[in-house]
Amino acid sequence: MCGIVGYVGKQKASAIILEGLKRLEYRGYDSAGVCIVQGGRLEVAKKVGRVEGLSKEAARHHFVGTTGIGHTRWATHGGVTDANAHPHVSSDGRIALIHNGVIENFAKIKTFLSGKGYTFKSETDTEVLCNLIAYHFAKEPQENDGQNRFLESVRKTLRHVEGTYGIAVLCLDFPDQIVAARKASPLILGVGDGEYILASDASALISRTQNVVYLKDGEIVHITPTTFSITTLDQEDVSPVVDKITWTIEDAELNGYAHFMEKEIFEQPQALENSMRGRFSEDGSTALFGGLNITAAEFRQIDRFMFCACGSAWHACLVAEHLIERFARVPVEVDYASEFRYRNSPLDRDTLFFVVSQSGETIDTLAAMREAKRKGYRVLAINNVVGSTIAREADGGVYQHVGPEIGVASTKAFTSQLLIGAMIALYVARQRDMSFSDGVQYVEALKSAPNLVRRALEQAPRIKEIAKRYSHYNDFLFLGRLSLFPIALEGALKLKEISYIHAEGYPAAEMKHGPIALISENCPSVFFVPKGEIFNKVVSSMQEIKARKGPVIAIVTEGCELPPGLADDVITIPECHEAVLPIVASVPVQLLSYYIAVERKCDVDKPRNLAKSVTVE
Ligand code: AGP
Repeated sequence: MCGIVGYVGKQKASAIILEGLKRLEYRGYDSAGVCIVQGGRLEVAKKVGRVEGLSKEAARHHFVGTTGIGHTRWATHGGVTDANAHPHVSSDGRIALIHNGVIENFAKIKTFLSGKGYTFKSETDTEVLCNLIAYHFAKEPQENDGQNRFLESVRKTLRHVEGTYGIAVLCLDFPDQIVAARKASPLILGVGDGEYILASDASALISRTQNVVYLKDGEIVHITPTTFSITTLDQEDVSPVVDKITWTIEDAELNGYAHFMEKEIFEQPQALENSMRGRFSEDGSTALFGGLNITAAEFRQIDRFMFCACGSAWHACLVAEHLIERFARVPVEVDYASEFRYRNSPLDRDTLFFVVSQSGETIDTLAAMREAKRKGYRVLAINNVVGSTIAREADGGVYQHVGPEIGVASTKAFTSQLLIGAMIALYVARQRDMSFSDGVQYVEALKSAPNLVRRALEQAPRIKEIAKRYSHYNDFLFLGRLSLFPIALEGALKLKEISYIHAEGYPAAEMKHGPIALISENCPSVFFVPKGEIFNKVVSSMQEIKARKGPVIAIVTEGCELPPGLADDVITIPECHEAVLPIVASVPVQLLSYYIAVERKCDVDKPRNLAKSVTVE
C-alpha cells in the first residue's frame, strides 16, 4: 500500500522524507516521489521504481527547502508510470498533494473541473483531488476572519469526496505549512524537537521522535513550523493526545540479518515471550487479558465465537477455532473478512466477534468489524499496532506486543496470533469444564513455546540445505490435518508470496479428492506428521503420494518413526502440547519458504505485487 511522509521543521526536508520513504518500502509500491517547497515553487521529483532511484533523481534538484511531502505509490487508478506517480501538482501550480486510498467519485469531479478549465496530466484519481483543492483555494476569500485559506480549501474539498484517503497537501501561498487528513487510510503525526513528521506508520518517523499523535478518520491536521492543530470536517476542534511509541529504531533495523523476514523468524521466541508476558493468572491455571473490556460473567454468557481476518491472520483464526472447540467446547465460526462483510450471515445474540489483524489497517477486516458493530455485536481485536484504526475502533482486545513486523510475509506476528488464540481458548475453557490441573498443564505448555521454537530454529541449517534441492520446483502441496491444516495453508501462502511458486494447502486426507492428480516427480508434497491418533492416517496419504513418484518432505515430531524410504527429507520438531504444536510447526515452513525464495533470488521483504497492509479494497 502507498506510503506517505511529510516534514515541516528546520532541517532539509528532502533527506528526512527520503529516509522515511525507505522505511515505508515494506508496505509495497511501484513508484515514488517528493515535492519540496523552495524558490517560490513546488519542486517535484518522481519516478517509477525504487526509492533508491528517486534519491538519485532528487539529488539533481539540489533540494534545500525545509517543508515537503513524499510518497510511495501502490497503483490503483492508472498504470505504473512517472506521470501517475505522486506528488501531483494542480494545473494552476499552487497545490501539491500525495494520497493513499481511492476517490470513488473522481470521474464526476474531474468532469466538473475540466469544465472550469483545469487540466490533467495523469490517469489518477489523486490528481482530481489536487485540482479540486486548487479550485476551492482560488474561490476562498483572501480575508476570511482569521481562518486559514489553505486549510479551509482542503476542508471544503474533502466534504465533496466519496471514498478513502490519507492525504498530505502543500500550498505555494503557505510555503512552510502542511495540511493532512485521513479517512480509512492511516496517518500519524510525529511531534519532534521543533519539527513535525507526518507518516503512514511509525517506522518512517521513529528515528526522529517517539512522540506521536494518531489521527482519526474525519480529522484534518494543520501543521506550521511552530505548532499543529486538529479539527474535523465540521470545523470542530480536536484536543490532540500525544502517545509514546514503545519500540525503538533498532527494532526497525536489520541488525545483521539478510532480510527482515529472516530477522523476524528468529525473533519469534522473544516475540512469543512478549505476547504472553503478564497474561497468566496468579494460580497459573488460566490466561488473563487486560484490555478485553468484557467481564468474566459476560464472557461466560458467550455461546458462539466469530473470527474474521485476511491472509495469514485468517489461518490463525482457523487454529483458534480448533483449539476453542477442542478445549472449551464452544462453537466457533471463521470467515474471510472480505466475505463476511457482504454475506449477511446470521449470528446468534450471544456471539462474540473477534477480528485479527497485525497491521490493524486491513480495509476488509476493518469493514467486517464495522459491519459486526453495526449489527450490535461486541468486537474484540487481536492486533500488533498500538493506535491503529482497528485497535481504536474495537470494543477491546489484545495487543500482540511483537514490535514492528517489516517483512511483507508475516512470521512473528502470525505465531503470536496463534499463541493469543491458544490463550483465549484456555481462558474460555477454564470458565467452563477445564480442570485446574489441566489448566496448569496448558499454561506450562504455553510458557514452553519460546524454547520449543528455539529448538525448531536449530534446524535452520538443515532446512537451508533441503531448500536448495527443492528451489527449482514450480508446484508444491502442503498437507496437514486438524490444527495443522491451517499451518499447511500458511506454509503454502509463505512459499507463494515470497518465491512466486504455485503452492496449495490441503487437509492431508482431502488430497485423494482431486489434488492427487497433480502429483508427479515435479510436484513435491510437504506433510505435517505429528505423533498421535492420526499419525497412521497421514502416513497412508504419504504412501499414496510416494506411489506416484511425488517427492515428500515430512515435518515430524520427535519420536515419530516413518517407514523407511517414505520421505525424501525429514525435518524434526520437538514433541509438544496440542495448543503449542501449530506454533512450533510453523517454523520449518517459514524457514523452507524463506530459503527457497533466497535461492531463487526473490525480493524476500518486498515481494512483487504485495503490500504489508492492504488498505484498499
Ligand atoms: C501474510 O504473510 C500476508 N502478508 C498477508 O496475508 C497478511 O497476513 C494479510 O494481508 C492480513 O494482514 P493484517 O494481519 O495486517 O490484517
